[in-house]
Amino acid sequence: MSHRYLNRREFLKVAALLGGTAILAACAPKAAPTTPPKKEEAAPPVAKATAPPKVEEAAGELEIFSWWTSGGEVEALNAVYEIFSAAYPKVTIENAALAGGQGQGGNMKALLETRMMGGEPPDSFQVHLGRELIDSHVIADRMEPLDWLYAEEGWYDVFPEDVVDIASYEGKPYSVPVNIHRSNVMWYRPSRLAEVGVTEPPATWDDFFVVAADLKVAGIPAMAIAEQGGGGGFCGHVLENILVSVMGPAKYRGLFDGSTAWDDEVVTKSLEIMDRILDYANRDYLSTSWGDINDRFVSDDGPAMMVMGDWTHGVLMSKGFKDYHWTTAPGTAGLFMVLSDSFGLPKNAPHRNNAVAFLRIIGSKDGQDAFNPIKGSIPARTDGDRSKYDEYLNEAMDDFGTDEGVPSIQHGAAVKQSFLVDYDIGLADLAANHDVAKAQRMLVEAAKVADLGE
Ligand code: GAL
Repeated sequence: MSHRYLNRREFLKVAALLGGTAILAACAPKAAPTTPPKKEEAAPPVAKATAPPKVEEAAGELEIFSWWTSGGEVEALNAVYEIFSAAYPKVTIENAALAGGQGQGGNMKALLETRMMGGEPPDSFQVHLGRELIDSHVIADRMEPLDWLYAEEGWYDVFPEDVVDIASYEGKPYSVPVNIHRSNVMWYRPSRLAEVGVTEPPATWDDFFVVAADLKVAGIPAMAIAEQGGGGGFCGHVLENILVSVMGPAKYRGLFDGSTAWDDEVVTKSLEIMDRILDYANRDYLSTSWGDINDRFVSDDGPAMMVMGDWTHGVLMSKGFKDYHWTTAPGTAGLFMVLSDSFGLPKNAPHRNNAVAFLRIIGSKDGQDAFNPIKGSIPARTDGDRSKYDEYLNEAMDDFGTDEGVPSIQHGAAVKQSFLVDYDIGLADLAANHDVAKAQRMLVEAAKVADLGE
């Protein structure tokens, strides 16, 4: 069977949620902005660099920013670079990958900001689709629209309409999605659960706490947590999954359009669950980094479960680890918490022709089918070659086609970066002080400062 991506009705459901969360102002009204330009109207705005550079002419550098430095991520990016280098052997790739900092790509985002403000952008950079792309870069008028490239490459036909929508502002896409990642996965070690006689992973948070109590008696941390650094975003990731499990998708979306208040009792309940989970986490979670936790997870005395996105599959595969399986995060069956990594074209990219050539590969079938099976994500294109994807990824493709989509907070889809930074600080405070009321006040204030729902 070929790909089972969202059918049109399901797309619209996701579109509604994305529009409803104000992921993108331009995708709410459905007239012109969401309609891909007809091919004959889609003349490129500038003549330069619309055609792929001739191989013998392409030379110089190509500087690419990302925060991909871990196992799986590095190999996946390299697979794309190999395709690029085979096509353009005279171009030197400067892989400016920078890990660390607050949340995802904190250090990279800070350096990017400095370079963009100083008029010295890299040629292209990793950016999450949704509010992160639009609020941080497009509204600031620092990106080139890519409608002409989408038209030339036929991407309006192979990327789901709603993926194009969240890449777009005022009707034009501004980046090229390389994947779809899923946030609401719980990775677990069957051998660790078996130590307390458990054969099926818990499906709800209530079930989780029953299993967690038994694990605690056996001296096994139930949940892997890595909250080093006062705002790294690990608990922020777990909380987005708790929020949607406690309040359901409609109320969850309401957190971003103002219809669900951050001081609502459903948020209190979610924070209480988060706080309780910490009692069953690896004890050193405040000094464990996002990178370290994967080593802990695979160690003999590692935690039994970890709620994390499916890049974890890429990381665990790269370690050659086999003792793990997956299920949806507790209480999120039937939901697909979505995020997408993409690359865009900054205005005044120093090696613009090379950047455009790179984007063509990022969006191509070959590029996506080389990148995603290693990264642990599914292609953003609907025509990926399923035989290249393993059991987990084929399941993820099926689920993306049938489940209800909800946008990730922690990974740039649902909220702007400024809110995310404050949200992560609130969660870090909870992790350190176990004061639910204070953490909730911090989230309420963060939503106010960020004008969520305005
Ligand atoms: C996400 C990103 C993934 C992966 C992950 C690791 O934000 O979308 O591709 O890099 O961070 O922290």
